[in-house]
Amino acid sequence: MVFQYNYPTTILYGPGAVAELGKRLAAAGDPRFVLVTDAGVVKAGLAERVGRALVAAGLQIEPFADVHANPVEEDVERGVAAFRAVGAAGLIALGGGSPMDVAKAIAVLATHDGPLSRFDDSRGGDRHITQPMPPVYAIPTTAGTGSEVGRSSVIITRDTGVKTVIFHPSLMPRMAVLDPELTVGLPASLTAATGFDAFTHGLEAYLAKGFHPMADAVAMGCMELVVDALPRAVARGDDIEARGRMLLAASMGATAFQKGLGVIHSLAHPLSTHYGIHHGLANAMLMPTALEWQLEEKADAFTDDLRERYQRVARLFRGREKARPGDLPEAVRAFRLRVGIEDTLAERGVKREDIPRLAREAYADPCHSLNPIPLLESDLASIYERAL
Ligand SMILES: [Fe+2]
Repeated sequence: MVFQYNYPTTILYGPGAVAELGKRLAAAGDPRFVLVTDAGVVKAGLAERVGRALVAAGLQIEPFADVHANPVEEDVERGVAAFRAVGAAGLIALGGGSPMDVAKAIAVLATHDGPLSRFDDSRGGDRHITQPMPPVYAIPTTAGTGSEVGRSSVIITRDTGVKTVIFHPSLMPRMAVLDPELTVGLPASLTAATGFDAFTHGLEAYLAKGFHPMADAVAMGCMELVVDALPRAVARGDDIEARGRMLLAASMGATAFQKGLGVIHSLAHPLSTHYGIHHGLANAMLMPTALEWQLEEKADAFTDDLRERYQRVARLFRGREKARPGDLPEAVRAFRLRVGIEDTLAERGVKREDIPRLAREAYADPCHSLNPIPLLESDLASIYERAL
């Protein structure tokens, strides 16, 4: 059974959702689409499988897999050329964040002049996005980032050489296609790491500063799904129901973090840059310590509302219906262990002498600006110290 939701964009959910997408696009008329993916997705056999399903539904598919793990502007330009060569009606993005970011940027450059740095969000570049763009249909192959419901794209632009965020409401994919048959082959460790990213989005959005009861409700729903489904998806990769719940949780986490994120993401980002630690794993490694450190060292800064939020999250975990705010770090630690995450920062190559630089970069990262408790660079250093 395939379900359709229309929040925050149209979502097709359920086993067989990919075939349903193919049917709907074929019925809409123009059958030519570029399938934007990457080498990993091709290697896993998913590009071929999805391509075949879409062709069987009557579409003409031009595969495009020339996408770097950290996408660069050249990837986008080659994609625009492929898009124009076939006169495509739209883009189908298949994979994790990278193919989705590239597909969105191809859509921008298909109807706007470059270079991409013109659209840099930190310089108000969204004002240059003025033309209608070809539609992007997003099919995630992991359950974590939630980019399929995101309105931004991150590309390393040629003239600046840095990761540049392009943000515009019309970058939201026309449709997100959550088909759990595509994630059953994901290894347990990657399932756990990506799933923890989704959980971190839910947690940090729920705790973030600001008044946003809608985001709060979606964030709680996201965490509830992860707590139930992630251990099942890790234990049995072919549990289709659990896989589907995790895909929904990932989309919900990314929907909720429109409200904001927090210090865990700021601390996690430099760990991926310098040690190649998977983003979701980095979040998982830091989460209990970051929560505990704030409870102990910043007790005075906790409002009643924030304590209540810690308690509500702690009570989501099995057997912790009577948990108190201070129980949250331990509840997360136990859950992390349950899904097989035991890594420490030291085991992953982080050394004490690296901490000042990591703390400097984490402090420069914008995510923690909405952390419920304001933190200094020295605070971030001492969270890293404790997490070693
Ligand atoms: Fe994340």
